[in-house]
Amino acid sequence: MLAANWKMNLNLHEASELFDGFLETLPAQESNRYVIFAPYVFLPQLSLYNSSIELGAQNFYPAEKGAYTGEISISQLKELHVKAVLIGHSERRIHFSESNELIKQKVDCALAHEVKVVFCCGESLEIRDSNEHLHFINEQLKDSLFHVSKENILNCSIAYEPIWAIGTGRTASCEQIEEMHSSIRSSIANQYDQTTAQSVAILYGGSCNSKNAKDIFSCPNVDGGLIGGASLTTEEFSLIAHQLN
Ligand code: 13P
Repeated sequence: MLAANWKMNLNLHEASELFDGFLETLPAQESNRYVIFAPYVFLPQLSLYNSSIELGAQNFYPAEKGAYTGEISISQLKELHVKAVLIGHSERRIHFSESNELIKQKVDCALAHEVKVVFCCGESLEIRDSNEHLHFINEQLKDSLFHVSKENILNCSIAYEPIWAIGTGRTASCEQIEEMHSSIRSSIANQYDQTTAQSVAILYGGSCNSKNAKDIFSCPNVDGGLIGGASLTTEEFSLIAHQLN
């Protein structure tokens, strides 16, 4: 699975061109799942493409409707053929003070509407330096994700994105990634069961690019990537896609 998080980048023309480029260059293997998390305002245009690339939204508010000025509901996104949502990204936790409780409500709301979830988790450098990273990520999962049923966890993917590696050009080492991903896999197995744990995709995100993707994707417990900066050009993203196992 490979996902692009365009964040607050591009204009409509650039977004359409990039999407066209992805359609032309991403390897069309049925086993590969591609999701593009585009800014809201590009979704109407991108939803006109009837493609195998899934449309995703970077955010939504977990209420059905009502007096929430400036917010967007899941039902409104579904009208634009949005199939997946990003929940718990560190940029939303940090810049918009999203709590574990709000993140949990978002998970429930998305799943109730049969929209797939990409659940992000990640630790700060301070937490890693104090050697609390495995425990911290396990708590993030327990607080906001592991309350869902076994049936529903299969509609979720988990993206491990160490905060210190996002947009910094500093990628986690394969040892660091594998340690965390295998710990996440064990946590899923403990909470649910081994078969379920094998079925949940665990993605890595944080300065992943065409040069380091091969090594990252070859880690046994890495099932793909969530790509920020390197998803903003067709060439980079497609080079990354060609390195998926
Ligand atoms: P970068 O790939 O730009 O480091 O961003 C990762 C990310 O935050 C994806 O959600």
